[in-house]
Amino acid sequence: MDYEERITAAELGQGEERSEMTLRPQKLEDYIGQKKATDNLKIFIEAAKLRKEPLDHVLFYGPPGLGKTTLAGIISNEMGVDIRITSGPAIERAGDLAAILTNLNENDVLFIDEIHRLNRSVEEVLYSAMEDFALDIIIGKGPSARSIRLDIAKFTLIGATTRAGSLSAPLRDRFGVSCKFEMYTTEELKKIIGRSAELLGVTADEQSMEEMAKRSRGTPRVANRMLKRVRDFSQVKGNGVIDIDITQKALDALGVDHMGLESLDREILRTIIERFKGGPVGIDTIAASIGEERVTIEDVYEPYLIQAGFLHRTQKGRVVSAQAYKHLGIPYDEEEVNSSVKE
Ligand SMILES: Nc1ncnc2c1ncn2[C@@H]1O[C@H](COP(=O)(O)OP(=O)(O)O)[C@@H](O)[C@H]1O
Ligand SMILES: [Mg+2]
Repeated sequence: MDYEERITAAELGQGEERSEMTLRPQKLEDYIGQKKATDNLKIFIEAAKLRKEPLDHVLFYGPPGLGKTTLAGIISNEMGVDIRITSGPAIERAGDLAAILTNLNENDVLFIDEIHRLNRSVEEVLYSAMEDFALDIIIGKGPSARSIRLDIAKFTLIGATTRAGSLSAPLRDRFGVSCKFEMYTTEELKKIIGRSAELLGVTADEQSMEEMAKRSRGTPRVANRMLKRVRDFSQVKGNGVIDIDITQKALDALGVDHMGLESLDREILRTIIERFKGGPVGIDTIAASIGEERVTIEDVYEPYLIQAGFLHRTQKGRVVSAQAYKHLGIPYDEEEVNSSVKE
């Protein structure tokens, strides 16, 4: 069932972009949480504005749905400049990037999503662009080829990635600021849900917002999506007002349990327990066992399972925690688990 699969997906679904736009905060003061990142950025933005210079290049990294794209937009708003949004896989050739760069205005923001997926030849164009605001263009071929340097407007590159580890060192080093995105607390998610409810014109009581926040896997995108689905339920099966009763019914019907896990999360944990004695087991083996891509597990499912304490990453592989056994209602035999960990 598509519905069930998608509700807790942290990535953006197809065609979902438009509906997200309405909920996306435009100003820093409306951006909830990520205090560590935003406190620093606030100062850097102020300083850059005082100097009338572009903000230093910024790298955002962390799991999907935590507000990277949103914050990039906010930065351009706060700086009072335009933003050009693109992504690593969308820029196929070096010339494509050169075209984008030469079209930027002074101090503009260039946002490259999934920046770890840029291909090498494109990435190399970025080096001099980031460092010297210049493009080195090769003219001609063979022995008569020469390189000319073309100045471009000063700009800010904001790169976003779910995997900072996949970034090449030369690229990573050229970012002046890097911000790690953390999962949101229940309290923060409750605020985000409250704000979104207001924007959507729906009424939700405290208890139901708390319940949705708890089941949102620390992720605003999931929280907003959940709110919309619960609203649908309340309109069709209730009186349009969101209360705890309709929230629980809706989320249960959608297959989201009280910790925010859905079927594939539980399947990952169950597989490690039943087929690998709770681990340690390598990520590739897990991926093969459940028929999912390794990157999907690593980028999409694992971050929350780890954050919530169900799964640990060790040198030897993934290990399921006692809490995961409890959550799935499987008896936890400490001795057996420990002996397999020691093996
Ligand atoms: N700090 C926040 N405050 C309020 N809403 C947020 C926040 N972060 C994210 N959101 C909401 O979550 C959605 C997904 O955020 P997005 O920036 O697209 O995440 P990412 O780019 O990290 O995948 C946005 O549409 C926005 O409505
Ligand atoms: Mg994004």
